Amino acid sequence: MKKIDCSSCIVEVGNLELSSFPQLLTETYKDARKVIVVDENTHDFCLEYLLTVFPTLEEAEVILLPAGEENKVMEVCFQVLEALSEYGIVRSDLVITLGGGVVSDMGGFIASIYKRGLDCIHIPTSLLGMVDAALGGKTGIDLGSYKNQIGTFHNPKAVFVDQRFLASLPEEEWKSGFAEVLKHALIADKQEWERLIASKQNELFSDESVSQILEKSIAIKSQVVTEDPQENGKRKVLNFGHTIGHAIEGYYLELNRLSHGNCIALGMIAEAFLSNQKGTLNTEELNEVVQVMRALYPCPEDLLTGVSVMTELMKNDKKNDQLGVRICFLDRIGECSWNHLIDGNDIKMALNYLYQAYYKN
Ligand code: GLY
Repeated sequence: MKKIDCSSCIVEVGNLELSSFPQLLTETYKDARKVIVVDENTHDFCLEYLLTVFPTLEEAEVILLPAGEENKVMEVCFQVLEALSEYGIVRSDLVITLGGGVVSDMGGFIASIYKRGLDCIHIPTSLLGMVDAALGGKTGIDLGSYKNQIGTFHNPKAVFVDQRFLASLPEEEWKSGFAEVLKHALIADKQEWERLIASKQNELFSDESVSQILEKSIAIKSQVVTEDPQENGKRKVLNFGHTIGHAIEGYYLELNRLSHGNCIALGMIAEAFLSNQKGTLNTEELNEVVQVMRALYPCPEDLLTGVSVMTELMKNDKKNDQLGVRICFLDRIGECSWNHLIDGNDIKMALNYLYQAYYKN
């Protein structure tokens, strides 16, 4: 069992049955009532395993969330909060989220506000959840097309990452999480980036390689979060690709055509381009980033129809200040800096570059 400290929250990577999860249930939270938050997918594919293997959970209340980013909204939270109240859940009880990023973002958010905060344990079941969403205590829901606009910092008590849950993950979901894996390597570890891009797909997704990917990626994110838990500075590097990526995601949200990771991959191309334009990333490394992302993630043909809407969405990004839109730059592969101011013209140029990178000929 690999144990990684993520800002005083222990992340255990390995078989859930051999982790400290059973002990937490029977000792630390012996007298607490348990609420398991799932979505439609994890309800069907993962919940039975949990209830069978950990009999103390048989009495747990199960909260079923509708699947999908479009449901990460306040209306759904209100219904869950009402259900918790009806079940008589009290502050010393425990919320366990079992699912991908939407489940840990929204389940964590609800746990953080109900009765001013319940303890929470995340069991992520998607690659995205394992390497990113479940780690570091950010919770959040969307406000219209604005992603994660409402949220709290609520560090979970523990996170258990068991790669066996990935067995049922559709390829699209794999690729979505893999964009965050690539991002972690790009911002902090050139050697890992080179290892990832040199591996053939079948090697990359062998059990052994997945375990290495998880440990490395979780360690990178945990180190950043431990250094700056509340995102006052350094943690902003985790947002590389996300300012433009979230605007793309927001624009296509209703059409539900693009996964989170796909949008972040496109955002990474656009933000790597701006890094190059502003004199940090060299052109050779920019081309390498473009080539890797383009081989894995598509770009919508109608991308440029959304330039003005996306520009507006970026103006409301959480990392901005009074002076305008702030993004991260890649200084080189493996190093990232934050708080760079860009304007509307930069955004337009970056989206044009992104489009050209796919549809030049
Ligand atoms: N997903 C970015 C962060 O946790 O800060």
